[in-house]
Amino acid sequence: MLGLRALFGIGLLVTSRGATVLAHRAARTHVCEHAYTPQFTRQACSMAQSLRYLGQEEAQRIDEELFSEYSFSVDQLMELAGLSCATAVTKAYPLQSLLKLPPRVLVICGPGNNGGDGLVCARHLRLFGYEPAVLYPKRPNKQLFQNLTIQCEKMEIPFLSEMPEADEVDEVFNVVIDAIFGFSFKGAVREPFAAILSTLKKISAPIASVDIPSGWDVETGVSDGIQPDLLVSLTAPKKAASHFQGRYHYLGGRFVPPALDRKYALNLPQYPGTECVLRLN
Ligand SMILES: *[C@@H]1O[C@H](CO)[C@@H](O)[C@H](O)[C@H]1NC(C)=O
Repeated sequence: MLGLRALFGIGLLVTSRGATVLAHRAARTHVCEHAYTPQFTRQACSMAQSLRYLGQEEAQRIDEELFSEYSFSVDQLMELAGLSCATAVTKAYPLQSLLKLPPRVLVICGPGNNGGDGLVCARHLRLFGYEPAVLYPKRPNKQLFQNLTIQCEKMEIPFLSEMPEADEVDEVFNVVIDAIFGFSFKGAVREPFAAILSTLKKISAPIASVDIPSGWDVETGVSDGIQPDLLVSLTAPKKAASHFQGRYHYLGGRFVPPALDRKYALNLPQYPGTECVLRLN
């Protein structure tokens, strides 16, 4: 156990006016030298540093480190990621703004962790008053995903047996959540997801993508892929996000320990108050 002084690595300075000042303040805000001046707040400081857009391998390393070094479990971070996505949806498409009632949302889940984020997102959307329906055509044989599926079923969220046609999607759903592929995606899109993505290219309902627009290259994006209206970058944006042309870009996944932020020079902006998402555009 460390005493307070040792913990902060400092002495307490007593100023001429008698006020106690923590001399280590500059150390905490080391990313920005101007932070020594009192009017330069920490927030203004981190805004001045630009948020970094990650390459695929770097995103994978950070993800692994969260589990191996920081001892998070997958379901913990998935819960926070899915909550961020549902929250971003409520901000971009508030219930009272929806034109099609009931307030249905189609959540399309892929075979990996991005799909798990989608299941969590669906569950929170239900709690927020939306009526999600889930399409989950390739289900991994792992207890985590089975549990997330049961949780959705217990929340009376319907699971669709097949992808609706584009005109049916537009008739019924206000928003489509694309939780198909995430930052580990590489190579060609296989069925049934290739057909699902080609339907998504035809719809006019807005698409909200979880972390990466599915089918896009994680670094270079793609020109002829789906064009989401909302992108929720999780942990930190990936390079593909710089090609995003939709209306709403949010950052979510407010769980990054400061040491990890520093190690990878992520320059994550300060989330306001207790918010779990932050708008980037
Ligand atoms: C899944 O739920 C069961 C209880 O139904 C629990 O025992 C198990 O630990 C859960 N597994 C995971 C990976 O969440």
